[in-house]
Amino acid sequence: MNDTAPVMRELIKTCSNMYRLGWNERNGGNISLIIDQEEAARYLDTTVSLGNFNFQFDASELAGRIFAVTRTGSYFKNVETDPEHNLGIIKINPDGKSASLLWGFSGGGRPTSELSSHLCSHIVRLRQDKNHRVVTHCHAANTLAMTFIHSLDDRSFTRTLWRMITECIVVFPEGVGVLPWMLCGNDEIGQATAEKMKEYRICIWAQHGIFAAGASLDEAFGLIETVEKAAEIYIKIMNSKILQSITDSELKAVAETFGLDYRKDFLD
Ligand code: 13P
Ligand code: ZN
Repeated sequence: MNDTAPVMRELIKTCSNMYRLGWNERNGGNISLIIDQEEAARYLDTTVSLGNFNFQFDASELAGRIFAVTRTGSYFKNVETDPEHNLGIIKINPDGKSASLLWGFSGGGRPTSELSSHLCSHIVRLRQDKNHRVVTHCHAANTLAMTFIHSLDDRSFTRTLWRMITECIVVFPEGVGVLPWMLCGNDEIGQATAEKMKEYRICIWAQHGIFAAGASLDEAFGLIETVEKAAEIYIKIMNSKILQSITDSELKAVAETFGLDYRKDFLD
């Protein structure tokens, strides 16, 4: 595998775009992406292990799956100029408790500290959608700001976002899940995130950031982009006198016109 493989080029481009949008300061955020076996085999020998990483959680449902993943501590800003140092390709071992390094992390290093949230979310999303491929985490500022001033229950947070842009309900008709502040980088937040991912493709970590899942990098990126823009509008208007907004019956009309399978119980 090298950075000329189309899947890797798209991953690198996504890291740069996320950095330029201000979502991934310093080493903030991480991405993991499933690479299909045949595609990986075109670029590297998937049977040769260059190293081993153990983890605490059970990823046996992903045994044999190959992932491109950002290195812990890597700056999204620098992925483009040194992908082999800042990215790695790992394969989940049959024990489900470790992964082999197939490529990358040159000069040492290991996968993101949020590997539990990533892999546990992949497990859950693959059960929902066999085409699922991507989990992305970032620290988008407006969404994060919103978690300081808005109630954190899924229904009310979703309702506010849906009302900020007419097409929000089209982009995430299932709504968003929100977790209260939790210690990050461990299995507890990984399990809690995966629990939300049973219902949603977006899980917001209060005072921390966003996790988004999708069948492609574009889908996960687009979810963050839309949530973050809706949050930005909320932050811009929150202290203003609201003269008109989108009503529940108007949201319902959008959802029904687009034939969406939306969270009906999230509307009055
Ligand atoms: P990593 O550098 O380990 O990926 O951590 C960044 C982060 O955003 C933690 O939540
Ligand atoms: Zn983070």
